[in-house]
Amino acid sequence: LSKLPIIEAVGDYVKENNSLFCTPGHKGGAGFMSSLSEGFVSDILKYDITEVEGLDNLQNPEGVIKTSQELLSKLYGSEESFFLVNGSTSGNFIMIFSSFNEGDKILIERNCHKSVYNAVIMRKLEPVFIKNTYSERYNAPLSIDRSHFSDILKNQKDIKGAVITYPNYYGVCCDLEGIISECREANVKVLVDSAHGAHFGINKGLPESAVRLGADMVVMSAHKTLPSLTQTAYLHVGKAADLEKIRFYYNSFMSTSPSYLFLCSLEYSRFYLETKGNEDYRRLLETAKRYRDRINGLEHVHVVGREDIDYEIDATRYILNVEKGYSGHLLLDYLRKRGAQAEMSDGSNVILILSPFNGEEDFERLLASLRECDFEELKADMQEAVSYGIPSLKMLPHEAIDAGKESISFLEAEGKVCGESIVPYPPGVPFLMPGEEINKKHIEIIQYFIDNGVKVLGINENKHIVIIRNGCAEVNRG
Ligand SMILES: Cc1ncc(COP(=O)(O)O)c(C=O)c1O
Repeated sequence: LSKLPIIEAVGDYVKENNSLFCTPGHKGGAGFMSSLSEGFVSDILKYDITEVEGLDNLQNPEGVIKTSQELLSKLYGSEESFFLVNGSTSGNFIMIFSSFNEGDKILIERNCHKSVYNAVIMRKLEPVFIKNTYSERYNAPLSIDRSHFSDILKNQKDIKGAVITYPNYYGVCCDLEGIISECREANVKVLVDSAHGAHFGINKGLPESAVRLGADMVVMSAHKTLPSLTQTAYLHVGKAADLEKIRFYYNSFMSTSPSYLFLCSLEYSRFYLETKGNEDYRRLLETAKRYRDRINGLEHVHVVGREDIDYEIDATRYILNVEKGYSGHLLLDYLRKRGAQAEMSDGSNVILILSPFNGEEDFERLLASLRECDFEELKADMQEAVSYGIPSLKMLPHEAIDAGKESISFLEAEGKVCGESIVPYPPGVPFLMPGEEINKKHIEIIQYFIDNGVKVLGINENKHIVIIRNGCAEVNRG
């Protein structure tokens, strides 16, 4: 048995020397290999320090961190911006805790990230879910259902805020501008999870940044698309923000020992965007289009574009859609065997994150792999990614967390109330939340995920699900 199992496993993976179409955005260090980051790269382990004399304190910045955060705020056009060393996950917590009070009713997307769900539970909020729209043709979620959103806003006058994902994991963008203007009229705050949109707005071929569109608060994972270390993210706040409250929650959710490696790389990403972003993204968009056209000349696979769906889309992301009857999960496995690491897959699609640090050779490898693919090997029964609707909420999520629980086979859970979040990973979007009723369709879909090798957090040993003991007689919201 290995004494260094993690180090050896990572070492083996690195030796595969894959073309990286996944996070982090620096693509195996390529994004740092320039004179812009010289000392940081050559002395990287020496840069792993935390607060020492002459540097600054992330929890109370007065020196170099303050200056660097001001430069960040200026680039994105925010009122104030913050470096995050615990990912967009921590940013979602800070946004939600600082914007709402216990018991508040807020609008969230069914397809939001699990950190949003967890923050809703911990802040003891009442979630009202917005339905998602789906593409039957591409068998994938598209965006939020705008008319459902408007109906809720019109009919429920006690909504305090909305948390919107822009873009989603597929790079598909909702009409954020319209949503913000509707929320302004209803006096509802708009918090945006833009984990996948840190590069937005840097070139006119990209969707506009959520900050420039006027959101109250925005979180971005620098590490997903920019040359920044994994775990690093930005938080931007607008004019109406309660800075005192934000600082309290920021300091609560942030480590008191942030590594300067993270802070240096967050600063570097901003500097990179400022000095090279516009031109590099122009080039990336051109390359992405060129190869997209070539891939779309092949059989059985299609890169979905703006003209295929009714939404704005980030063209630096490929949604590789396979024809009905073939499996996206099997295509992801095949590409990995051919040395191309994708970000994630669903039943019919493989998502690739492109960055300016993917070279022509990466695109050539991808194209050759797809051209030489024996699609017969990718045949599989297809599970429709159709909307399964919004489950019925039987207890508030935080009440469900505190209720008595038991574990049973998920196959026997029809009609029971879910006791733990059920989250297929990736993309990490909760599919059932504590307090929601489990129905037959949910059981079929869980079985499908397991059969297709998708990890389902909350289903233990691929068998057991936690439910609320004795139903939920006391607090039935049915
Ligand atoms: C939409 C969305 N929000 C938030 C997160 C969390 O981001 P981080 O990994 O930076 O904590 C993710 C991660 O996949 C995500 O996809």
